[in-house]
Amino acid sequence: MANIFSKGRAESRIFRDERALMPEFLPDVLPHRDREIRELADALAGTAEGRGAENLLLTGPPGTGKTSVSRYVLRELEEYSQRVVTTYINCWELGTRHGILAKLANAMGEATPRRGIASDEIFDSFAEALAKSGKSIVVVLDEVDRLFAAKHEEWRILYDLSRGNELLGARIGLISITNNEEITAGMDARVKSSLAQRQVKFAQYSPVQLKDILRERAKVAFLPEALDAEVVPVCAAIGAKHGGDARLALNALWRAGKLAERENARMVSVEHVKRVKLDVEEQKPTREELEPRLEGLQKEIYEAVKKAGERGHGGITSGGLYKLFDEHERVVEEHVNRLVKLGVLEAKMVERKEESGGMRGKTRIISVRRASTKADRS
Ligand SMILES: Nc1ncnc2c1ncn2[C@@H]1O[C@H](COP(=O)(O)OP(=O)(O)O)[C@@H](O)[C@H]1O
Ligand SMILES: [Mg+2]
Repeated sequence: MANIFSKGRAESRIFRDERALMPEFLPDVLPHRDREIRELADALAGTAEGRGAENLLLTGPPGTGKTSVSRYVLRELEEYSQRVVTTYINCWELGTRHGILAKLANAMGEATPRRGIASDEIFDSFAEALAKSGKSIVVVLDEVDRLFAAKHEEWRILYDLSRGNELLGARIGLISITNNEEITAGMDARVKSSLAQRQVKFAQYSPVQLKDILRERAKVAFLPEALDAEVVPVCAAIGAKHGGDARLALNALWRAGKLAERENARMVSVEHVKRVKLDVEEQKPTREELEPRLEGLQKEIYEAVKKAGERGHGGITSGGLYKLFDEHERVVEEHVNRLVKLGVLEAKMVERKEESGGMRGKTRIISVRRASTKADRS
């Protein structure tokens, strides 16, 4: 009998390289983003010649290519010029001024101990290293809204960067990214100018554009003849229906491919897409899959909600939950929203049962999401 592991990657009848459908894969071409790529390139061109850059703010709905375009341009810039260092930071993963400064210092070859060194000191060593190198640095701050929602004033990193530019004569280019079009409303003029000297808006993809994007990715991902001709249009339609989101469309294509592969089908058919459609649209892996992956504050919040549930209440009010944590309400709220989006927690608006302290009206009850959707349907 053949070894159970012997049916390796190479033997798939469907995929040539399924990694090309993963969200973090950066393709060689980004169809329908020429204008945006050009705008970024124009704004950053000066850095390759030792001049300054225009600070850019990229906005637009999820899945419209903001992260990919910025990573693409960084890659091109590094390849083109020895005079530029680039660094990509996701503020959701690295959301403190201190942490960001440490990463910038590292990018300039400075070792920084994790603790016991003041932010201002890290800034100094970063600025010194940058001056000595004679290079420019281009920094991407993705999901930058996170800095403004934090308990402490983490957004002050933007002041640091503009101070760095004043000190060093415009050596630091900044690209900030957010889904929130309104982020600069009501902002201090100086913060605003370091965030957005120029704004580049990313529009939702049309069904036709999504088709082109999927076709390019499918060429790399699938074996020839492994895709029914209708599969790409149907996946594109799913993405189009949900805000022109390329991530969703790609996920539909990948999941349909996995299903076809599991069933040892000769090719991916529209039928396969239809069967994965619900899972794709809900964007929700099962809670069982997610639970072990939670970390830090998200994990603590999840545990607190779970405990409240186990004590026999239907859940916990958002107010009750915020009280359990030292962090700013907005930070906890944001994590709760993420956990809801991930499908780990559920939030329901309910009428308050009793008048508490004269407060009436609605409140939000947070609970652990019950059975996973997969289990519901099987
Ligand atoms: N023009 C494009 N060409 C190819 N793939 C794209 C394009 N735009 C987006 N994608 C893909 O769609 C997914 C979401 O894109 P992303 O850049 O993360 O969007 P955003 O940052 O706006 O949410 C990624 O997998 C990305 O590779
Ligand atoms: Mg993004």
